[in-house]
Amino acid sequence: MANLINGKEVSAKVKNDVKEEAAALAAKGIEIGLAVVIVGDNPASRVYVNSKKKACAEVGFKSYEYALPEETTQQELLDLVDVLNKDEKVNGILVQLPLPKQIDENAIINAISPDKDVDAFHPYNVGKIMIGEYAFLPCTPAGVMELIDSTGTDIKGKNCVVIGRSNIVGKPMSMLLLHRSGTVTICHSKTTNLREICAQADILVVAIGRAKFVTADMVKEGAVVIDVGMNRLENGKLCGDVDFDEVEKKAGFITPVPGGVGPMTIAMLMKNTLTSAKKKNGLI
Ligand code: GUN
Repeated sequence: MANLINGKEVSAKVKNDVKEEAAALAAKGIEIGLAVVIVGDNPASRVYVNSKKKACAEVGFKSYEYALPEETTQQELLDLVDVLNKDEKVNGILVQLPLPKQIDENAIINAISPDKDVDAFHPYNVGKIMIGEYAFLPCTPAGVMELIDSTGTDIKGKNCVVIGRSNIVGKPMSMLLLHRSGTVTICHSKTTNLREICAQADILVVAIGRAKFVTADMVKEGAVVIDVGMNRLENGKLCGDVDFDEVEKKAGFITPVPGGVGPMTIAMLMKNTLTSAKKKNGLI
């Protein structure tokens, strides 16, 4: 039976460290602010945005919510980003994705000042990640690294398999594992021998958005299995990309859904917002 990786516990520690640093800055008169922008009424986005605001309150940051209607134009959103880029109270800007179809997500990401890009989605920050010089951490992949580290696993030389090649998770995840000297394979929907590759993984990270896609036969005995998926089943229950009940019997360590990667993403976002404030004030 696998050991459960407790994302709530690990994220609480990260947030607590952020909270202590934020309190020290507050004592010097430095207040930290995160702008959270949501366009439309995607229910999943609303849940994420609420969690991000709650986390801000927990660590002592101000959060500024901008909830825009579904029919917002690209120009209107660009105008808001411009205002937030110039707003001294705002250390981080988070525009919740996905955006309605009339808005080009890349145009918005490119417009966010790289200094306030706490998601690390701007090409400047993506480039920094590629060369291993992190201005901001890519939130979900950095959270996954914290979870892997919490198991005591040494990544160096290990077979690391990432399923999924998204800009948000799969690609930056591969880079972080590579920077820690893992031997990294990226699998995706066109990979022909996916099962065989996964079965070789000492560390398996799954981020594809397909409920229970990873079955026990795809997992090596004792592997560290990290499930980034968050799928809503017909019965309303949340479920990851991994068939938890079966894989749990074979893996060495496994993350639950919910309570695994999700809380980590938000904790790392808080860490990035703190980093932004420290940079602005010449403290790093
Ligand atoms: N949508 C899903 N995940 C994320 C994320 O990490 N950041 C933003 N901005 N939108 C998302």
